[in-house]
Amino acid sequence: MALPRQIFDTVIVGGGGSGLRAALQLAEAGHRVAVFSKVFPTRSHTVAAQGGIGASLGNMQEDHWLWHMYDTIKGSDYLGDQDAIEFMCRKAAEVVYELEHFGMPFDRNADGTIYQRPFGGHTQNFGERAVHRACAAADRTGHAMLHTLYQRNIRARSQFFVEWMALDLIRDYEGAVVGIVALEMETGQVVVFQAKSVILATGGAGRIYHSSTNAFINTGDGLGMAARAGIPLEDMEFWQFHPTGVAGAGVLITEGVRGEGGILINSNGERFMERYAPTMKDLASRDVVSRAIDQEIKEGRGVGPEKDHVLLKLDHLGSETINKRLPGIREIALKFANVDPSREPIPVVPTCHYQMGGIPTNYYGQVVAPRGSNHSEVVPGLYAIGECACVSVHGANRLGTNSLLDLLVFGKSAGDHIVEWLKTNPQHRDLPADCEDLPLSRLARLDSATSGESVSEVGRDMRRTVQHYAGVFRTGTLLREGVAKIREVAERVGRVAIQDKSQVFNTARIEALELENLIIVAEATLTSAEARTESRGAQSREDFKERDDKNWLKHSLWYLEGGRMDYKPVNLDPLTVESFEPKVRVY
Ligand code: FUM
Repeated sequence: MALPRQIFDTVIVGGGGSGLRAALQLAEAGHRVAVFSKVFPTRSHTVAAQGGIGASLGNMQEDHWLWHMYDTIKGSDYLGDQDAIEFMCRKAAEVVYELEHFGMPFDRNADGTIYQRPFGGHTQNFGERAVHRACAAADRTGHAMLHTLYQRNIRARSQFFVEWMALDLIRDYEGAVVGIVALEMETGQVVVFQAKSVILATGGAGRIYHSSTNAFINTGDGLGMAARAGIPLEDMEFWQFHPTGVAGAGVLITEGVRGEGGILINSNGERFMERYAPTMKDLASRDVVSRAIDQEIKEGRGVGPEKDHVLLKLDHLGSETINKRLPGIREIALKFANVDPSREPIPVVPTCHYQMGGIPTNYYGQVVAPRGSNHSEVVPGLYAIGECACVSVHGANRLGTNSLLDLLVFGKSAGDHIVEWLKTNPQHRDLPADCEDLPLSRLARLDSATSGESVSEVGRDMRRTVQHYAGVFRTGTLLREGVAKIREVAERVGRVAIQDKSQVFNTARIEALELENLIIVAEATLTSAEARTESRGAQSREDFKERDDKNWLKHSLWYLEGGRMDYKPVNLDPLTVESFEPKVRVY
């Protein structure tokens, strides 16, 4: 079957912050750019980012990119690559000021500079005290940013394919990526898009967990596409649990609440973070705060009839601050927890929020897929940016606000790199003859299955399995059982059927295709977590309580083929400054 074809210079899969930032760089340079999004771009998950963008502008107190770099490396529990972290922290001010000039409606100080608030793990002078580093637009920073970038892209004439789902990458016989195959969700039409370069910017896959702050669209589509194309997934054991998801609902309550002075309390009314992080208290890094909350709950100091959450108290901030700095939080608390935070605390619990791992890249966004012992082998034509990528600036634990920074810095960097690369690679490479086979065979299987389990049942079992076996605290026994269970679920995914084909639209096919991506991420997560026999950042093993730099200062690589693991060393060499050697991590 010969599918219809379209040709672009660059195809970008994902219309969130990183995809839009890269698209802008390319479209403004005069390239033909196609951006694919399952939803209208301004509804991408970046819209849910609340608290701010990390950049050492020093508007409220003295700050320095080197302190930001140190905090990020320490936050990563020394698993972050120090070249990429230096690159990101040095570029932070530049990308924030660019955004300001694009028209981003930041909050302002009295002197007109951008308002900045403290956030977890961000400090002055290498850990001495909290610093105001998060550049904020109230508690709707991601929303403001997405609209700003989208409008700039319209002006630059980026072309949008809205409500399209990318199915698979096309690699030629030399391994270069030369396009994608994508499906229009409304009509079911499948089209081949040929391109000189492809950027994966599909965001995270937090929907592998039952309780998640992630949007329903966060199904790891880019990770599935990469894994099916033979590219490994890096550091997939590291999932961030945000300390403050609304209990029972999972909706995010920004760390900016604690940045503005909110505190966590247990059933005794005690500010328990003073015991776990004497200096930074409620503003310790997220892995530390989430573990503390879990510990309080385990030891019986949780709140509510089931004693299964704690409370976030902010009434002492006063209505004026809440309405000015945290209006969205007030609305969320009223709608999802039925509490007015200017009078009562919000019930919160750690909730899956962010994927530190992803598709391996360098800091130009180029995908690197090791061949033999060469761990910096680039896949020609393929880039990945934002949460779906692992560059790795977040290592084993990301600092709040570094996600928005990451997508601006590496979105722009990938765009710039492609502009240069196209100067010496101006021609499209040929499409291989079999370029349609993989996605068409996936669709044919789904469309021909007359009986089988429902997508929703199998999806529910996947989410519960991941939640139970790969939560905040892990053990070898639990993880081994989890690996076996998730493999069983994976086999069931291969047998799902769309129940009543006469009653459904393409959305049912989309959900089945998304589940194929999610299960890849879920399997990578459990297998990588079981293999890493240490505790580091978000991977907290009760049977291996210590960080083990001797054996585990390395990134894990999981391959879909055979579920095989490989490893590559952490890059401890920054670009221009001295290395930050691993130290015991206290807040
Ligand atoms: O807490 C928050 O506002 C989330 C920010 C982030 O994940 O960076």
